Amino acid sequence: MLYYLAPLEGITTYVFRRAYAAVYGDADRYFTPFLASKKLNSREKNEILPEHNEGIFLVPQILANRADTFAAIAGQIADRGYSVINLNLGCPSGTVVSHGRGAGMLADPDSLDAFLEEAFHICEGLSVCADGSGMRLSVKTRIGIASETEWEALLPVFARYPFEELILHPRLQQQQYGGHPSLEAYAAALEVLKCPVCYNGDICSPADEAALLSRFPVTERIMTGRGILKNPDLIGRLKGTSDPDRPLRPDPVKLKAFLAQLTDGYLSVMPSEREVLFKLKDLWAFLGSSFEDLPEGHRMLKDLRKSSSVTELQNAERVLLQAL
Ligand SMILES: Cc1cc2nc3c(=O)[nH]c(=O)nc-3n(C[C@H](O)[C@H](O)[C@H](O)COP(=O)(O)O)c2cc1C
Repeated sequence: MLYYLAPLEGITTYVFRRAYAAVYGDADRYFTPFLASKKLNSREKNEILPEHNEGIFLVPQILANRADTFAAIAGQIADRGYSVINLNLGCPSGTVVSHGRGAGMLADPDSLDAFLEEAFHICEGLSVCADGSGMRLSVKTRIGIASETEWEALLPVFARYPFEELILHPRLQQQQYGGHPSLEAYAAALEVLKCPVCYNGDICSPADEAALLSRFPVTERIMTGRGILKNPDLIGRLKGTSDPDRPLRPDPVKLKAFLAQLTDGYLSVMPSEREVLFKLKDLWAFLGSSFEDLPEGHRMLKDLRKSSSVTELQNAERVLLQAL
């Protein structure tokens, strides 16, 4: 089984990926949050700078619905030596969708088909491998906008193309992150598509993975996002490298090392300590759920949320880690 760290805009930055890879080192692939500027801005350039991504398999992700934008971003990615690009067809945010990007591209299968045709053509023209072969294209998609029946019209479009892989988050755009992923839509994808299919959605524990595999034993690739933010040990647990009977709680030694590296990393690149504080609190909005059921967990998390400086936050983290 291959396990991927999902892209999470604002959270799985290169600073996060580096700290995660150094301490946990167990994801088989990493993805940048979406890159959308025709001329990459400095934040986006930092995401794909090879020096910021040493030792990991990184797939840069593009959010674009125009061939010229896609070509411009893909060219800048190719220049930095990457050989696979991921196209975002899943972002459900209102502003992205209203501009016809992300999941908005699923609204019209014919336009999507035309765009994919152009995107493949652009990728073939980018010679990135020693043997002269072109950039490979993968896609990360939802199953439609408002109704699961849309997937029936979208699947034949996807089936026409030789994707490096198709990562499926089988929710509708309108569900955002609520409701349940549609396992029927995943079943249909496995049946129809010839390219490798990666499952994504709500895998937060070994039990979640076991339930998926009992119904779909052919699954060979799993991407997880929020599950890792809740417990960064997750992939290690799924890979079975740690004791399967141990409760699914973060390992305090590793988590301490991870948070220290993450905090130092952000302090060294962000313009103000206040921004670092917000970044870390964004992560704790997920990580906190692993501490809620500890005695005094809610009170300790409340203290953490109230921190008004990085030092205060680190003190609150220390108290939480001691309680593990
Ligand atoms: C805060 C946040 C930011 C996200 N940013 C991206 C993104 O930049 N690109 C993308 O393809 N998906 C993005 N996603 C979706 C995740 O990659 C993933 O598909 C989704 O969270 C479902 O997987 P999970 O249940 O394992 O978290 C984001 C999700 C969240 C919650």
